[in-house]
Amino acid sequence: MTETLEIKITKTQHSRLQETDFSNLPFGRNFSDHMFSADYIDGEWTNFEILPYGEIGLSPAISALHYGQAFFEGLKAYKHDDGQVSVFRPDKNAIRFNKSAERLCMPALPEEIFIQSIAAVVDIDREWIPAKPHHAMYIRPFMFATDPYLGVAPSKTYKYMVLIGPTGPYFSKTLRVKIETKYTRAAEGGMGYAKSAGNYGGSMLPAKKATEEGFDQLIWTDAKNHEYIEEMGAANVMFVLDGKLITPSTRDTILDGVTRDTVITLAREWGMTVEERRVSVAEIIEGAKNGKLQDAFGAGTAATIAPVGSISHNGEEYFLSDPKTREFSQRVLTELDAIKYGRVADVHGWNYMVS
Ligand code: PLP
Ligand code: COI
Repeated sequence: MTETLEIKITKTQHSRLQETDFSNLPFGRNFSDHMFSADYIDGEWTNFEILPYGEIGLSPAISALHYGQAFFEGLKAYKHDDGQVSVFRPDKNAIRFNKSAERLCMPALPEEIFIQSIAAVVDIDREWIPAKPHHAMYIRPFMFATDPYLGVAPSKTYKYMVLIGPTGPYFSKTLRVKIETKYTRAAEGGMGYAKSAGNYGGSMLPAKKATEEGFDQLIWTDAKNHEYIEEMGAANVMFVLDGKLITPSTRDTILDGVTRDTVITLAREWGMTVEERRVSVAEIIEGAKNGKLQDAFGAGTAATIAPVGSISHNGEEYFLSDPKTREFSQRVLTELDAIKYGRVADVHGWNYMVS
């Protein structure tokens, strides 16, 4: 399908744009005037619609609520200095969307529908995109099962929606992280690589306990022995150890992050050695002790590049250098911003222009 998607558009009678406080945009709290919706019925996607953001009516028996057939994506649109608007690497999210769909026994969504639905709703609400450093329009595409049926079986009907909203970064400070050695986010053969709703539901209790202990995020480790680092709660985790960029290789327990891939691509272009491999807790702690751990950060769409200030393991806290003095994460954040906000040439073709 390459033709333009036919979308029924109903515009809001009352824009909330003027009432929204653009000087305070915490992640995930503000939604723009419109949203996109489509239905999967009788084996095909239909009812493409942009309508005012608001409540939707659903049966309380839908299987998404009972059995978790639900997943999402997260990406961002940016306003360039000249007023143009771009979405960062939506083709990567489209591919991952369908990986999640497959794992959850849900229907694929053609990449063109994914990208055109996002472009259409971003275009309608382009005035909502904050023109401010480190701010963007967060885009949340998601799909969920809508059969009102209590048997444990894949639904026959689904809804695909896109919500968008202006946002600042997910984290507002340098992170104090804890390496989790009791709970598990994902096990081999499970669905860690999918952006399934259940992965996030299951992470909340351990994350809450860590917050009560004063930590900002968890670093998840392997389910078997908690010896290898996997990722953070809302981002992939990356380290600079002895001059090399090191990050856990993707596997079925780890989300294949778009930001992670982008950082790796830039680092390689800059001539840095990049190692995607199993990363042991022991080597990171050793590096933190002997000073070879020069940088550590979360990499994600919502998180952007989020510096880690200290890492705790088994009750010991190891402090890293002041993030402002870190060469790699500073450089990568600056370059990423320059690309996303259109200040340098987009030589990789990462910006999807919304015209
Ligand atoms: N890992 C998890 C668990 C996430 O929720 C996210 C956020 O999307 C990421 C990693 C980073 O992925 P991306 O860079 O594609 O946003
Ligand atoms: C994103 O970065 O888009 C995410 O999905 C993180 C979210 C769970 C807060």
